[in-house]
Amino acid sequence: MSEAAIIDGKAFAQGLRARIGRQVAALKARDGITPGLAVILVGENPASEVYVRSKGKATTEAGMNSWQHDLPATADHETVMARVAALNADPAVDGILVQLPLPAQVDAAAVINAIDPAKDVDGFHVINVGRLVTGQEALVACTPLGCLMLLKDRLGDLKGLEAVVVGRSNIVGKPLAHLLLAEHCTVTIAHSRTRDLPAVCRRADILVAAVGRPEMVRGDWIKPGATVIDVGINRVERDGKRRLVGDVAFAEARAVAGAITPVPGGVGPMTIACLLHNTLTAACRRRGLARPEAA
Ligand SMILES: NC(=O)c1ccc[n+]([C@@H]2O[C@H](COP(=O)([O-])OP(=O)(O)OC[C@H]3O[C@@H](n4cnc5c(N)ncnc54)[C@H](OP(=O)(O)O)[C@@H]3O)[C@@H](O)[C@H]2O)c1
Repeated sequence: MSEAAIIDGKAFAQGLRARIGRQVAALKARDGITPGLAVILVGENPASEVYVRSKGKATTEAGMNSWQHDLPATADHETVMARVAALNADPAVDGILVQLPLPAQVDAAAVINAIDPAKDVDGFHVINVGRLVTGQEALVACTPLGCLMLLKDRLGDLKGLEAVVVGRSNIVGKPLAHLLLAEHCTVTIAHSRTRDLPAVCRRADILVAAVGRPEMVRGDWIKPGATVIDVGINRVERDGKRRLVGDVAFAEARAVAGAITPVPGGVGPMTIACLLHNTLTAACRRRGLARPEAA
């Protein structure tokens, strides 16, 4: 059997970002509106600082307004809530993102649920989750949305396919399972208590790994020809070098699967591209405007 095709998320994300940039320009020309994303960063977590910086850069590159609100690690719950309330009330702000994790004294769930659902570009608010689950128009979490875009680009119609999603987090596994269900897949959600996980995975035409365990999914867990989406980002040390690996044993999987996302360069770049997508969507929906056609 030939090697699996590589699903090039990096190239797809670049194309998507360029298309969003053209749509933003068209929105400005047509309606005089510049979409804007505000990010709240509490404390000095180095990984969060890197993420927030790259989100801000991508936002301005797409022609949107970008604001970063830095709060000290000692900021109390009320201070963070007050900042969210101010951004909810600001008409120039279309998207609000609170970078996680938050310090222990801040109730993260309460903060997320205080965001205006129409500006909740992370798609974590219970209203948006509820809308997704009930098949209503929602802002959908960025990483699962990116996975779905890659799957549809690769496979076209997903109707009737067996999908197994390993991982049930609110950020990835659960929303992706609902997106796949909405595409008429037969969906199984697996997790740490699933019995005989390899056998469950072998049923999958679409296998998604969103676990956070380096190379857990082995080649012989994969149905020949399956499409494998590896969401995992794990930092490991190999031969004295630090490397990024996914939740799937890539070389083994590539010998069996039909197509697979690499790590890095697969799902990772889709997250920021989908954040821009959601910010543009929010800017249009809030005003009852049609999304401009991509040039
Ligand atoms: N931009 C991106 O590409 C992006 C975005 C988000 C996350 N990620 C990566 O994706 C991975 C998952 O992230 P997450 O936030 O969803 O993680 P998470 O909240 O830690 O959830 C992990 C899930 O995996 C399940 N799990 C753990 N061990 C397992 C095992 N041995 N067998 C089967 N299932 C197991 C857990 O099951 P239980 O529920 O039973 O505990 C849980 O549902 C991480 O590597 C993360 O870095 C990447």
